[in-house]
Amino acid sequence: MSKNYIFRFPTPVEAGAGMAGQVGARAKALGASKVLVVTDPGIAKTPHLKTVTDSLEKAGVAYDVFAKVEPDPSIENVEDNVAEVKAAGYDGYVALGGGSSIDVAKGLRLLSQYGGKLRDYSPGDKIPGPLAAPLIAISTTAGTGSQVSNGAVFSDNARGTKFAVSSPKNCPTLALNDPLVTMGAPGKVTATAGMDALGHAIECYLSVNANPMSDILVLDAISKVARSLPRVMANGDDLAAREEMLLAATTAIVGASNCGLGADHAVAMPLCSLFHQPHGLIIGMMLAPVMEYNQAAAEARLADVAVALGVNTAGMSQRQAAAAAVVFVRNLTKEIGLPQRLREIGVAEEKLAQVAELTMESHQVANNRRKMDPASLLEMLRQAY
Ligand SMILES: [Fe+2]
Repeated sequence: MSKNYIFRFPTPVEAGAGMAGQVGARAKALGASKVLVVTDPGIAKTPHLKTVTDSLEKAGVAYDVFAKVEPDPSIENVEDNVAEVKAAGYDGYVALGGGSSIDVAKGLRLLSQYGGKLRDYSPGDKIPGPLAAPLIAISTTAGTGSQVSNGAVFSDNARGTKFAVSSPKNCPTLALNDPLVTMGAPGKVTATAGMDALGHAIECYLSVNANPMSDILVLDAISKVARSLPRVMANGDDLAAREEMLLAATTAIVGASNCGLGADHAVAMPLCSLFHQPHGLIIGMMLAPVMEYNQAAAEARLADVAVALGVNTAGMSQRQAAAAAVVFVRNLTKEIGLPQRLREIGVAEEKLAQVAELTMESHQVANNRRKMDPASLLEMLRQAY
């Protein structure tokens, strides 16, 4: 018997090649007359932005473009701009980009309506009521799944960590999943985004709050990433594999939004922030060590993960299958060219204890299958060093 659970999937998804070009009609149908298009400087130079703005013009929806989103956006990236955004009186938002752009759009929408600081809305669900302005999210990566998630993550650079604003009210109003806008993503972005999606799926499956609906979604996501990530890395123009990755990233985060993540996302918060590393890179590097960390507490679940990854577990004991899942993920990170050790990315060994302490501040700690404490975390970090 499973524990009682509730499962939410609040964001409708319209999926298919060319869907980004429908954004104008969708914004209009949602009642928007003047929207802010939130993106980053890199995406602003691609044809995808024109696809979006042409569509808005065609539908008669006025717009401005905010192309100042930072990678792993800081609190200031939102708070320093919110007064100007609020004064402009937008009645809708379109996020075009990876998780950073979608999260900044979530932050701007939230503070424009309810005011205050981002920290006021975390931890727990502190958004006082519905968010009135529709947010349409178009993800240019297959990774964070922020286009359908209830979370938005911000870097607190003063403290050297990150935090999430999470609430069902924070979900985008509509996600347009268009594989064509993920086609141009560079190899490193594709690799790290793909590992972020795999991290969401595996951590959700290992979460103490995993439930039968999340299990269905994330096991399928694990299979799809294992099959399609090597394909998109070998050929970035493989549309079928790009589409499968986008689907996997979406279902993985829907599962994770319902049951939480675990040690990998907890440890990534300080590692990314202190050492200025992309989220997906740390998630990818630390996924196998975190699986190993959980192995004794989650052997049966890791054996299921091995099967989902496509490992031939015939003749293996449960323990061997669990270990094989770890080996598969470690080999996948090598195959797609991710660094293998923390020392390779400039992590200072004397900072590992601080990382372990800051990791314990994450709300994800409570979800992890193995009970976490600073001493065992430090041991895991040393082994990954
Ligand atoms: Fe993530």
